[in-house]
Amino acid sequence: MGGTSGKAVQSWHADMPRATRGRACYIRSAAHPGGAPFQESHRMTTARQATEAVWAGEDHLRLTGATTVPISLGVAHGYPDVEAWQAVALGRAPGYIYARNTNPTVEAFEEKVRILEQAEDATSFSTGMAAISNTLFALLKPGDRVVSVKDTYGGTNQLFIDALPKWGVQVTLCDTADATAIEAAIAQGCALLYLETPTNPTLKVTPIARLARAARRAGALVVVDNTVATPINQHPLALGADLVIHSATKFLGGHADAMGGALCGTRGLVRAVYHHREIHGASLDPMSAYLLLRGMKTLSLRIERQNANAMRIARWLEAHPRVTDVHYPGLASHPDHEVAAAQMRGFGGMLSFALEGGMDAVRRVLPRFTRMHRAANLGGVETVGGPPATTSHVECTPEERAAMGIPEGLIRYSVGIEDVEDLIADLTQAIG
Ligand SMILES: Cc1ncc(COP(=O)(O)O)c(C=O)c1O
Repeated sequence: MGGTSGKAVQSWHADMPRATRGRACYIRSAAHPGGAPFQESHRMTTARQATEAVWAGEDHLRLTGATTVPISLGVAHGYPDVEAWQAVALGRAPGYIYARNTNPTVEAFEEKVRILEQAEDATSFSTGMAAISNTLFALLKPGDRVVSVKDTYGGTNQLFIDALPKWGVQVTLCDTADATAIEAAIAQGCALLYLETPTNPTLKVTPIARLARAARRAGALVVVDNTVATPINQHPLALGADLVIHSATKFLGGHADAMGGALCGTRGLVRAVYHHREIHGASLDPMSAYLLLRGMKTLSLRIERQNANAMRIARWLEAHPRVTDVHYPGLASHPDHEVAAAQMRGFGGMLSFALEGGMDAVRRVLPRFTRMHRAANLGGVETVGGPPATTSHVECTPEERAAMGIPEGLIRYSVGIEDVEDLIADLTQAIG
């Protein structure tokens, strides 16, 4: 455990209140006097979230009087005598031990995500995939069965079709659009239900509350990847999920300059995954934590703008004669629009659309864009786009993509915060 009293940390972390877990106590402070902000309605207003996005999680780092949180690079934290050191290591006094566990800057990031997700506890990871793999491997054991959907992010799908079965976990992947089939699969025995909604790249929406009820009946945990929606648009915990996952690399950070992951939920579950991550070493570094924290200050503003831009562009694309399909849950024509309207406060900044003429049309149109970065990322302030055939689903054959409902002419379009008129002008000249 290089430098930290790992065993002791493990044993007390599981049941210590987070606020006394070896660092300054500030969580149940002025912002949440009674504690448990997660009990509030999932319809927490955007105005309130805008405030939390700016302030939450940073009080303990303003000791120097600086407006911004410092980047704390120290790997190890020392104490003058054995008693003081032990008290911190055992969680009886505030402080830090070793940066693989957490660190002042990393902890500020964890706190901000926790409060925005209205969760009891949160931890962080080096990437979104680290958050997903650590969660699955920490909470599952050989012989368990996972139920999920066919449309999860490509990396997650690889865990389901390759890594987990090799490790003796049975995985059933259901048709994402068929909630009844998912319920039936859960009822056949399920340790963990894993959802990602809306999905990437075809923006399917699954009913979290309904499926969480089915999971409860089966005694299964519910994990939701909230990367695409963000806590501004959706609160899976309030809809019945036990855990929420983020690739912070996307909308949370919002500037395509730092990778990270987060997990939020009930204390016992988050601590179990935290121990796994601590031992497996996929910790968030303080530089990335700082960049993600800074990005998150504008999360609410960015998402409001991206929601509005995406809605406007989706309507514009829907009316375009060369566009054969538009996938955006905010459109009344979207098959899951009612479910989305019931569980989301905004419909998000990502959409996809298919061009008449398939891949030939994509080849022709793609180079013409001047206000869309052609790349595999999403969720940033810049509009970013590209065909899944070269990005998220590059390893599939055209036939496999078609079977997943991804036509060759599909372009994923992650809408940025630019002036929407400029984006529409760019789309106009590119699509023709
Ligand atoms: C929905 C979703 N979840 C998880 C991930 C993985 O995140 P990361 O690239 O930070 O590992 C991605 C990446 O694109 C994603 O789109």
